[in-house]
Amino acid sequence: MAAQPRPYSASPSAPDRVPDVVVIGAGVCGLGIAWRLAQRGLAVAVLDRGAVGAGASHVAGGMLAACAEAEPGEEDLVRLGRHAQALWPGFAAELEAATGLPIGVRSEGTLVVALTADDRARLVHHLAFQQGLGLPLDWLPAAEVRRREPHLAAGLAGAVFSPEDHQVEPRALVAALAAATVQAGVTLRPHTEVAAVEVENGRAAGVRLADGTVLPAGAVVLAAGAWSRGIEGLPPAARPPVRPIKGQVVTLRMDPSAPLLTHVLWAPGCYLVPRADGRLVVGATVEEKGFDTAITAGGVLSLLDAAWRVLPGIEDLPIVETTVGHRPGSRDDAPILGPSAVPGLVYATGHHRNGILLAPVTADAIARLVAGEGIDPAIAAFGMERFAARAVAA
Ligand code: GLY
Repeated sequence: MAAQPRPYSASPSAPDRVPDVVVIGAGVCGLGIAWRLAQRGLAVAVLDRGAVGAGASHVAGGMLAACAEAEPGEEDLVRLGRHAQALWPGFAAELEAATGLPIGVRSEGTLVVALTADDRARLVHHLAFQQGLGLPLDWLPAAEVRRREPHLAAGLAGAVFSPEDHQVEPRALVAALAAATVQAGVTLRPHTEVAAVEVENGRAAGVRLADGTVLPAGAVVLAAGAWSRGIEGLPPAARPPVRPIKGQVVTLRMDPSAPLLTHVLWAPGCYLVPRADGRLVVGATVEEKGFDTAITAGGVLSLLDAAWRVLPGIEDLPIVETTVGHRPGSRDDAPILGPSAVPGLVYATGHHRNGILLAPVTADAIARLVAGEGIDPAIAAFGMERFAARAVAA
């Protein structure tokens, strides 16, 4: 039987016990790592400059899309994403059972819709590459797509169906992870900004907060998403090459008893994610604007126009939210996972568009590393050293 819900309560003051591990960043990856470390008996504190889960995790679509989004040149990332997909059912079940909090997993799969003959030709060409990787994707003719989703635009040209790309509700995921971490003994310290990693004798020895307080720790995990590069105290070469990639998102409200859409949907210019409670998330812009937080007319216009072209019925839906997030983008759009040049400091950042998908593998692999159990082969290709290797080769 599932446990009763036990929403977390953050611990605003410093705990008495010096943590074995400080995790910088209370997003889904930082929380997941902390949970796995606490399950190993380690004392863990998670610090965040804002509220728990208020960064990219709050804005994420929650698409567990290792297949439909597979791009040439990203074969290692596809393998990591497929590994994460395989972990997701167990991760979700364990988290829900531990906390009694549902995390909104939906398993209808994903449709990538072609509206025109050009779209169809491009998708079919790309599908051949994706199927060549062994990904379970199929082409559906227009009539079959509309049979599955009757509210889609009448003239659509077909779609790729990805039966294994599901979704989870990221805010529910944050709430469950936060509850699980606190149950496991983790100290959550939101609104506690880390200014720097403290390095003593060449080794990470804790963190210095923005108010000057030093918090000693045996190890530090840098999981601060788009803010990871701004943490000081590290040699320049050890600061992860992560930048913010702005994404605007518009949320509409459907009638949950008669939803316009049930699958996750990609269409030219947008994606749509229908939540079980009737919310319909329309995302997302991709903008190189630093930490700009403006909701712009152009951003909202482009998203709603693209969504309306594929799902005309949205014109009657109320807008219930507009939000902005900042994806942590690395130089190659893949995460940075593993040891650093500073002993005691471990990276779990740069997840770009895949933070929710990769949360379970990040949690498992980074906890394993920090606990001294070695490098999980799943993350071996994602170390920081790959950037240095490429610089030498260039
Ligand atoms: N993964 C969705 C996004 O980055 O917009």
